[in-house]
Amino acid sequence: MPDLSLKNINKFYGKVHAVKNIFIDVPTGEFVVLVGPSGCGKSTLLRCIAGLEDISDGDIVLGERSIAGLAPRDRNIAMVFQSYALYPYLNVYENIAFGLRARKTPQAEIEKQVNWASELLEIGDYLKRYPRELSGGQRQRVAIGRAIVRDADLFLFDEPLSNLDAKLRDGMREEIKRLHAQLGKTFIYVTHDQIEAMTLAERIILLRDGEIEQAGAPLGLFEQPDNTYVAGFLGSPPMNFVDVSVSGETLTLPDGQTIPVEGALKHGTTLKDGEFTWGVRPEHFSHSDHGARILRANLEVIQPTGSRSYGTFKLADTRLMAELEAHVGEQDTREVTLSVALERTVFFDKETGKAIR
Ligand SMILES: Nc1ncnc2c1ncn2[C@@H]1O[C@H](COP(=O)(O)OP(=O)(O)OP(=O)(O)O)[C@@H](O)[C@H]1O
Ligand SMILES: [Mg+2]
Repeated sequence: MPDLSLKNINKFYGKVHAVKNIFIDVPTGEFVVLVGPSGCGKSTLLRCIAGLEDISDGDIVLGERSIAGLAPRDRNIAMVFQSYALYPYLNVYENIAFGLRARKTPQAEIEKQVNWASELLEIGDYLKRYPRELSGGQRQRVAIGRAIVRDADLFLFDEPLSNLDAKLRDGMREEIKRLHAQLGKTFIYVTHDQIEAMTLAERIILLRDGEIEQAGAPLGLFEQPDNTYVAGFLGSPPMNFVDVSVSGETLTLPDGQTIPVEGALKHGTTLKDGEFTWGVRPEHFSHSDHGARILRANLEVIQPTGSRSYGTFKLADTRLMAELEAHVGEQDTREVTLSVALERTVFFDKETGKAIR
């Protein structure tokens, strides 16, 4: 029995069809991340669930009841926004307690809830401060605190970390994941950041132009993308796409180098002869001259990150990136041999971009 069911959700803003025929079932307690580029309809879908936008067509079922016609406050859904939306003239305690007071919750219960939330979010020392006296990360925690004291059935997050600097974002990501485990509630989280989606989600729903492009477990989407769009969206640095041709057991690269292609597809299927878009992630390369699948590369640019180095090279006109061990390229020559983990790479139909399995 799904906790939340989105049934054929459509949303028009005048002529703009922002959300198209969306069906999603979310079981109780799942952490779902809606991800996709700017303008793909993530916030619109979330706002439709919260009741901040009317849907043009379809139904939303939460628990056992249809909530599509209910006012936002009758849906028992908590939402955290990117812009925190704290009350500037209320201190942290009163910001967190605001919704409880509005519901005429007894004082003792308010006390208990605010203490519980502030301990969980480690903001107990700031309860008397005003929002302007807090850092961005602390403000965001207060906004989350205000949402979780409500004991809502469903928690919605719209890019809650995008105003924070990179380091704080990493820390908060971990806290949100821990919070989800502790509350055991259903979370729907919107982000355009693929790393955030990968690290947080139990299930990623990747949207494109208001439609679902692919949905599934993060590593499932990452390792078995349905098409070049999904493959290119997930992963940083992104997957390399290379035009190749396959004939018999041989794959020919743009600069004429060849590698044996046997076993390129899983499940014993063989690749038919033809032209393909070959998807190789930077980490599918390694600096090695062992094995059958070796190519020569002349590293043009090397970007060390400390733990790994990213090397750029060209095969004819195609520029590729390889993830290599630190210190590769420090030698006199930048001519290196790279081995490819062919079985991890993905072949796509050159015309449709669909993955070949
Ligand atoms: N109030 C509105 N009136 C008209 N069009 C709107 C309105 N709100 C959103 N849209 C349009 O609907 C589409 C989806 O917008 P939405 O805000 O859901 O995108 P998003 O995926 O959240 O993007 P972002 O990552 O930039 O926040 C966009 O084309 C946007 O211009
Ligand atoms: Mg948005």
